[in-house]
Amino acid sequence: MTLSEKDSLWVSETLDKIQKKMKVVTERSRDKVPYTTVDGVFDDRSGKDQIAWWTNGFWGGIMWQLYTLTGDELYRQTARNLEEKLDAVLMSAPGLDHDNGFKWLPTAVADYRVTGDTDSYNRGILAANNLAGRFNLAGRFIRAWNDWGEDDHRGWAIIDCMMNLPLLYWASEVTGDPRFSQIAQAHADTAARNFVRGDGSCNHIVEFDPFSGEMVRTYGGQGCEVGSSWTRGQSWGLYGFVLSYLHTKEKKYLDTSRRIAHYFMANIPESGLIPVDFRQPLDCEWEDSTAAAIASCGLIELSKATEGRDSKVYLDAALKMLKALEQRRCNWSEDADQIVEKCTAAYHDAEHEFSIIYGDYYFIEALMKLSGKELFIW
Ligand code: GLY
Repeated sequence: MTLSEKDSLWVSETLDKIQKKMKVVTERSRDKVPYTTVDGVFDDRSGKDQIAWWTNGFWGGIMWQLYTLTGDELYRQTARNLEEKLDAVLMSAPGLDHDNGFKWLPTAVADYRVTGDTDSYNRGILAANNLAGRFNLAGRFIRAWNDWGEDDHRGWAIIDCMMNLPLLYWASEVTGDPRFSQIAQAHADTAARNFVRGDGSCNHIVEFDPFSGEMVRTYGGQGCEVGSSWTRGQSWGLYGFVLSYLHTKEKKYLDTSRRIAHYFMANIPESGLIPVDFRQPLDCEWEDSTAAAIASCGLIELSKATEGRDSKVYLDAALKMLKALEQRRCNWSEDADQIVEKCTAAYHDAEHEFSIIYGDYYFIEALMKLSGKELFIW
């Protein structure tokens, strides 16, 4: 992956803007666990009822990336503070699910990678063991969610889980025990077969019979409808499969990521701004900036894993989306806590186009990747 002089300058100028804004934002938000903003002010999900929310690791991830960039102790301390708050989740079975990767890779595992802290190591290993325990042997998939009320989720797997597998790869790497990686690869193989369609688009949710392991049906999930193409799901698949390739060196995962990437790139609008679902009705203009930021991270990794024209095509697509975000969807005012705007959690939710913490996280991660300074989180 080679950046032009002009693009390198854009990357360093954008990182300067991030650094300048985030210093001020972090000073006033250090005890929070943010998910979104209300009138430009971070909310706080650190309370007992919300501490298990799946996005609660991303503020930690932002802190570790900024610590890596600047060496400023403010970020390390704020990250450690959040990591300790998440201990309440490790002690609560209902709060643990396949999102253990999203919660503890950007927090405890990042901390361990940077500092070698033994408490952080323990947290990461506990979270990985719990994740491995969600493996369904008959269907060879990792169960996504716990049951909500009457809903039976025993056979449910979701494309997002591809991003949680790196917790298992990490556990195998540090313990020398292959079981974790074997489970991750079994899930990735099942996902490649059952989630990724012929045209490279992905299902969000696949239900398996939890006893026989047979595939039962798919659901539209957070996208528009069954058979549609929820853009964040496409980006979880794109990025998640290239991560499985980076951890295992199995070319089949690289090929799967590339298939999803080719579908994704063919659907990027002229504006570079990404809709909530590539198959949403033509008169619906709802966007999801998180999909753009996450897919950009995956495309940058594909660019690094390939050569020549292919590498350039992936890099150009990432730059197109990131520049569109930087110029049209980022809020650079120090009075507002959020950076990336117009993010959407789910197509059928009542609210659309607000700020979401992982939009900021993946935007920053993408810029860090482009600068060559990234702390590798996944
Ligand atoms: N992993 C849940 C989401 O992407 O909304």
